[in-house]
Amino acid sequence: MMMSRNVARSAVAHVGPRFFSTARVTGLLTAGKSSALIHVNPSNGLERKAVTWIRFPVVGVRNGSSMASGKKEENEEEKKRRSGDGDLNDKAIISYWGIDPGTVTKEDGTKWEWSCFKPWETYKADLSIDLKKHHAPITFLDNVAYWTVKSLRFPTDLFFQRRYGCRAMMLETVAAVPGMVGGLLLHCKSLRRFEHSGGWIKALIEEAENERMHLMTFMEVAQPKWYDRALVFAVQGVFFNAYFLAYLISPKTAHRVVGYLEEEAIHSYTEFLKEIDNGNIENVPAPAIAIDYWRLPPDATLRDVVIVVRADEAHHRDVNHFASDIHHQGHELKEAAAPLGYH
Ligand SMILES: [Fe+2]
Ligand SMILES: [Fe+2]
Repeated sequence: MMMSRNVARSAVAHVGPRFFSTARVTGLLTAGKSSALIHVNPSNGLERKAVTWIRFPVVGVRNGSSMASGKKEENEEEKKRRSGDGDLNDKAIISYWGIDPGTVTKEDGTKWEWSCFKPWETYKADLSIDLKKHHAPITFLDNVAYWTVKSLRFPTDLFFQRRYGCRAMMLETVAAVPGMVGGLLLHCKSLRRFEHSGGWIKALIEEAENERMHLMTFMEVAQPKWYDRALVFAVQGVFFNAYFLAYLISPKTAHRVVGYLEEEAIHSYTEFLKEIDNGNIENVPAPAIAIDYWRLPPDATLRDVVIVVRADEAHHRDVNHFASDIHHQGHELKEAAAPLGYH
């Protein structure tokens, strides 16, 4: 008991100055402009137990630092931060876990701006893909899948009309769900059965991530209003659960539904392109995130973005019809190697 008290005291004495000394923290934070990390040797088990992590805005610490140094002036940056206009980089995360995100650069040596994806996840879309390919419904369940999707088009057309930017953004919030649900269920199945997945978990999660990048792109073009956000809440609540149940009951039909949804997405993006070409939608410069993600030229436009997104949808169409075909032929997905990195 006595020994553990001594150990605890030494831990507080050791940890205390590192984490609660203003001088130590401000010194580190003011050294870097946007963020700072404190690296503490995690080999000491007591340190690990005594302090988990501390996160706080730089503002407070910087103010403390200013007061200590007697400086009263606020620069523009600090004013901005106070008014809430500062971005996430204005906050520092103090941790002793020693995780250094490192600095990633582009091929030309300039700094990589995105933390949500890295250069090795970017690609050039394969635009040679056949956009007209269609799976003619054969079985009863194929017809169920086909007509379910067709019937969903009517209310979608009615709601969005020709607002293709908004339509794309909203539909991507739905399109990013099936891959994640399928991947999740296959992941759990792999754990339950102590078996490999054939790469399908990763392939489906890749698809979900790719769809989410479509959303990240289109939200730069069409800013969601409060009622758009409310609609996404409602639709996600229903669609996630419906797709989850459908995948549990019949993965073959669930993949077929997504295959047809992707066929509809190709159609929607083709209409989107027509509207741009007709001059009804302004062909604005491509969002920066799209230029980096699809390795587009710096002068790329919205039209270029729609073309690469449409090619992605065609790839998703193929993957999901393929997955449904595997089930239809009485096999399990793991028996056929998943099309990883299929863009
Ligand atoms: Fe998409
Ligand atoms: Fe898609």
